[in-house]
Amino acid sequence: MSLVLGIESSCDETSAAVVEDGRKVLSNIVSSQIDIHNKYGGVVPELACRRHIEIINPIVAEALDKANVKLTDINAIAVTNGPGLIGALLVGASFGKALAYSLNIPLIAVNHLEAHIFAIGLEISELPFPFVCLLVSGGHTSLYLVKDYGKYEELGRTHDDAAGEAYDKVAKMLNLGYPGGPVIDKLALKGSPNAFNFPRALKDSLDFSFSGLKTAVMEYVKGMKVAGLVEKINLSDVSASFQQAVVDVLISKAVSSAKKNASKHIVIAGGVAANSQLRSDLKEKAAKEGVEVHIPSHIYCTDNAAMIAGIGYQKLIRNKIAELDLNPQADLYLSNWG
Ligand code: KG4
Ligand code: ZN
Repeated sequence: MSLVLGIESSCDETSAAVVEDGRKVLSNIVSSQIDIHNKYGGVVPELACRRHIEIINPIVAEALDKANVKLTDINAIAVTNGPGLIGALLVGASFGKALAYSLNIPLIAVNHLEAHIFAIGLEISELPFPFVCLLVSGGHTSLYLVKDYGKYEELGRTHDDAAGEAYDKVAKMLNLGYPGGPVIDKLALKGSPNAFNFPRALKDSLDFSFSGLKTAVMEYVKGMKVAGLVEKINLSDVSASFQQAVVDVLISKAVSSAKKNASKHIVIAGGVAANSQLRSDLKEKAAKEGVEVHIPSHIYCTDNAAMIAGIGYQKLIRNKIAELDLNPQADLYLSNWG
């Protein structure tokens, strides 16, 4: 039996988790900084780092406590080493390095994107390799063909904004606070997805672009402001039409990726995978093509340390150990190691 302590601090969540043999989550403590950043309409990097420093120690202690294990029971420490906010990454990685050194146990460096891709592994018994992964978060929107642990082929990526970023920016324009995804998701339930015909970009490609969509919403809001009609903006209709445009594009590209690569499985990952419409519509559309969709629970879609410990274990058993001079990288991209 192997116990991995995972530590995640790449953005605005401080999280620590204890996972047994890469699958059994004994604890997964996530402390969100939403209240700190909400009034600024987005994450303020300096405030994020300071908060991570303040709470990393108690969060790790809580994760050990909840798992009912001692630090000396831990077999390896897995830390996020990018991509993310550099100051934020440094807090978790330095903490993990110090722990690994003092306990004399292996340190595992985990790419945050890879952790999202394999979050589903915490909940299903066998991964359906090769599968298409639609990774949609606040910082990334990409499609990968995942052939094995550490073996990826990028099929498409965004040319500009990430899907979650578009949600957050549209929410900011509409004064809905941060993060935008959950609020827009909720408002959309009450609105009409056909009230506005917002653009769907790059129809014939597996790449994405959300900046035109964001600008279309901005132009509408600006127009209403100039006309003195801001109060007349129907937030539910704008949310529903914006969300329909995002979800249409995500679904059509994910399903075409599966068809093009003869894969019968799609996994969705990242914060936007928590979106209710994406979850239900993708299942329905993919089923028509004979493709099965695998969706992690909400807690494993947004940032969490269980996913870091989960893939950390896979690296540990393949002897992919990091050096103690590990340096996190803000722009780390997904590279093959398997
Ligand atoms: O994966 P994540 O927690 O952090 C990053 O690695 O970026 O993703 C955060 C993003 C935010 O942009 C947030 O607005 C979005 O995920 N998000 C959602 C929903 N819940 C979170 N987007 C759409 N619908 C949701 N229900
Ligand atoms: Zn993330």
